[in-house]
Amino acid sequence: MRVVTIIILLFLCKTADLRKTRNGSFRNKANNGKASRLRKASSTVKRYAPGLPCDIYTYLHEKYLDCQERKLMFVSPSWPEDLKHMLLARNRIRKLKNNMFSKYKLLKSLDLQQNEIGKIESEAFFGLSKLTTLLLQHNQIKILSEEVFIYMPFLSYLRLYDNPWHCTCDLETLITMLQLPANRNLGNYAKCALPTELKDQKLKQIKIEHLCSEEERLHPKSIVKKPKIAKPEFDSSLCHIYVFPVQTLDCKRKELKKVPGNIPPDIVKLDMSNNKIKQLQAKEFEDISELKILNLSGNGIVYIDPAAFSGLINLEELDLSNNSLQNFEYGVLEDLYFLKLLWLRENPWRCDYNIHYLFYWLRHHYSVHYNGLECKMPEEYKGWSVGKYIRSYYEECPKDKLPVYPETDKEDEEWERHKEQSVQTIKKHGVIVTVIG
Ligand SMILES: *[C@@H]1O[C@H](CO)[C@@H](O)[C@H](O)[C@H]1NC(C)=O
Ligand SMILES: *[C@@H]1O[C@H](CO)[C@@H](O)[C@H](O)[C@H]1NC(C)=O
Ligand SMILES: *[C@@H]1O[C@H](CO)[C@@H](O)[C@H](O)[C@H]1NC(C)=O
Repeated sequence: MRVVTIIILLFLCKTADLRKTRNGSFRNKANNGKASRLRKASSTVKRYAPGLPCDIYTYLHEKYLDCQERKLMFVSPSWPEDLKHMLLARNRIRKLKNNMFSKYKLLKSLDLQQNEIGKIESEAFFGLSKLTTLLLQHNQIKILSEEVFIYMPFLSYLRLYDNPWHCTCDLETLITMLQLPANRNLGNYAKCALPTELKDQKLKQIKIEHLCSEEERLHPKSIVKKPKIAKPEFDSSLCHIYVFPVQTLDCKRKELKKVPGNIPPDIVKLDMSNNKIKQLQAKEFEDISELKILNLSGNGIVYIDPAAFSGLINLEELDLSNNSLQNFEYGVLEDLYFLKLLWLRENPWRCDYNIHYLFYWLRHHYSVHYNGLECKMPEEYKGWSVGKYIRSYYEECPKDKLPVYPETDKEDEEWERHKEQSVQTIKKHGVIVTVIG
């Protein structure tokens, strides 16, 4: 009797499921059958912004973004944060990058079907703590780890079919997850494309023990779950790796005199505070381009090569407090496109012409928050903010002789030119003459 009941229940679930995706068009679980009504309701659709090709509308008190079939390759940072449903089907998105949706914390459903997604980074869905429905069918995903789903505790409806799944050891965690009884609505109908002996088998039904060979089981290092630590130069006994909440390499207080080589490339946070690194050489961090937080506090750094931070295009926080920095050479900050926070406290900033680069870079990048930019030397400016020193520097000159740093946008071009051409600056009687040549 019990068995029969269970079978009937399963059957009902399955048909309900089928109904939901009858013809591949998006239908939120909760909104079963409302699509046509939605379309009618769209006479009240409001354009989000002139020239922006996506529709934003509210239906039953929930905000929708309809950006289907717009040749999109990226998610726009300018969509409203209170979206509940995001329809991005039939675009050209290839890669889901870490934190790509983290702004959209209220999102309940995300439709990414029929794109060209081949790679999903491990924190691509970070912040989607309310998401219940995720549609990824008809893409190019071969491998995916269970890890990407940990940020979506309420995910109850997941579509993965029509992706060329490579059913190898790398897929073990995902398949194990899909086969849990509680995950009945996750990943139905998805099938292996490779290897040939598993072709067309459903992920839901594969026997896990067929995935990993004996060899891989005995040496599970090759499984993606573990961070790749085994690199020759990098001394993993000295620094510790943490995986959650973000990939972190903790090297604080290790008496390091240099930045260690071969840091694992997926490190997001690197703490090298309180070591003895006196200088930063060119390209010290080139191979860890995922890095977002770098702590170099308390090292006694006296010199930073202008190319030291090259390649750190994702860096958001940089702590240089408690060092021996007097200024930044021209160029030091140029690669840090996404910098948000910069700690400069407790450095012996010297207020002379060499501090201007740092000050003006910060002024031109007003989204960067910083602290501790205070003159410590020479004696006459001690305790002044660097901004005050720079104002006084110009007050000494008659206004019409101020050739540098006007307030307008032209200034950005000026800076660009500074970068490209060789620039000599000569200080003459407190007036800067810029010689471009
Ligand atoms: C998809 O389903 C909707 C609603 O059931 C229907 O109106 C539409 O014609 C179907 N489209 C296709 C391509 O079958
Ligand atoms: C950097 O490290 C120092 C000392 O360990 C700590 O006090 C500071 O908060 C850290 N900075 C950041 C941004 O985490
Ligand atoms: C500053 O750095 C030194 C090491 O260079 C350390 O001993 C000291 O505790 C640090 N001070 C603070 C406030 O973090």
